[in-house]
Amino acid sequence: MNHFATRQTFNFIKSGKYMKNRSVLAPLTHNMSLDNGDLSDHEIDWLNKCAEGGFGMIITAATSISMTGRSWQGQPALITEVQKNSFARIAENSHKNNALAIVQLHHGGMRSEDKFSTAKAVSPSAYKLDCYYPDGVREITTTEIESLINDFVHSSKLAYQAGMDGVEIHAAFNFLLSNFSNPALNKRRDQWGGSFDNRNRIIFEIVKRIRAEIPRNFIVGVRLSPENYAHFSGIKIEEQIQLSNALNKLDIDYIHMSLHDAFKKPNHLPEGDETLLQWIKTKLNPEITLIIAGNISNIISADKIISHGADLVAIGKAAVGNPNWVNKINAGRALAKAPFTIEQLSNNGFTMTAIDYMSGISGLVTENKQKWVA
Ligand SMILES: Cc1cc2nc3c(=O)[nH]c(=O)nc-3n(C[C@H](O)[C@H](O)[C@H](O)COP(=O)(O)O)c2cc1C
Repeated sequence: MNHFATRQTFNFIKSGKYMKNRSVLAPLTHNMSLDNGDLSDHEIDWLNKCAEGGFGMIITAATSISMTGRSWQGQPALITEVQKNSFARIAENSHKNNALAIVQLHHGGMRSEDKFSTAKAVSPSAYKLDCYYPDGVREITTTEIESLINDFVHSSKLAYQAGMDGVEIHAAFNFLLSNFSNPALNKRRDQWGGSFDNRNRIIFEIVKRIRAEIPRNFIVGVRLSPENYAHFSGIKIEEQIQLSNALNKLDIDYIHMSLHDAFKKPNHLPEGDETLLQWIKTKLNPEITLIIAGNISNIISADKIISHGADLVAIGKAAVGNPNWVNKINAGRALAKAPFTIEQLSNNGFTMTAIDYMSGISGLVTENKQKWVA
């Protein structure tokens, strides 16, 4: 076995950053921050465990750029000096272990929740009340759009000052930036809606501003989910490829695609010979550094995804049970397999709040909280 994912190095040429291997800790929400977005020691320790466990890059949980767009209880934020200092600890711990530290920047858009946010959910256009959005979603104003772009840039500057290696702009999973891209959700007639360029203008503006205002050794990546999943609809895969190629021209460092299952066939070509990733690779500018996530659990699947054209592999659920995923593989030790017991998760540093949240994700946790407490 070659162990490409866990042993082969990678260079981000444009930012001059080096990765000791091709394994990335996927962004994983854990609800371990405080209600005001301040980070807890638990989450800093968890990320440290993953850095010590051998990952070449650590990406944080989706982190609020504004208290208006919060989607979960205990979501981290990067808005204040106090929060910046916590990110400085994440950067320091990661660098001690020769890992890159990236913060994922997020606004929930239509998926923001009233009870955690300081404002009602917004989207490029108003959205009807239904069982998924019982509080309603109002159209965001142009002033608010300008202010959110500033918020993304502000958080990026704090990340840079904290010593983080870069930011990942969350434009996936029906959150705000993906709402803008989506022609089924964005019905605006101003410069922020309509054509492909207008719908994606907010993402382009955020990237351009970060590039203009922060030195070039700072990594900028963008996360996309190029196919619809669950009850979400309207994302067009061809446009997500077009978006990736357009972002590459704006000098980003990587595109991170979560494919749900990196071995699946494309939804629009279920009988074809190519997997979704192989199809994407035929369309994507080959210059793009591509991180792929989705059901990559062990070294065989990780190396296979690299052989299908990914530069880096992101490990989500498998890392929840194995923060030392890389070191275990390189030492020839067996990985813990999902679903994980509450004891395993607790030993890995997750609080009961985190475990409770993870219990709601299919196939991740063996028992539920009540059973364990009893
Ligand atoms: C507990 C959990 C929390 C997650 N939190 C985030 C997040 O904060 N941001 C994000 O972009 N994706 C998030 N994801 C999606 C993962 O990053 C990843 O794309 C997805 O789980 C597929 O990879 P996997 O099969 O290796 O888990 C989360 C997934 C899980 C299981």
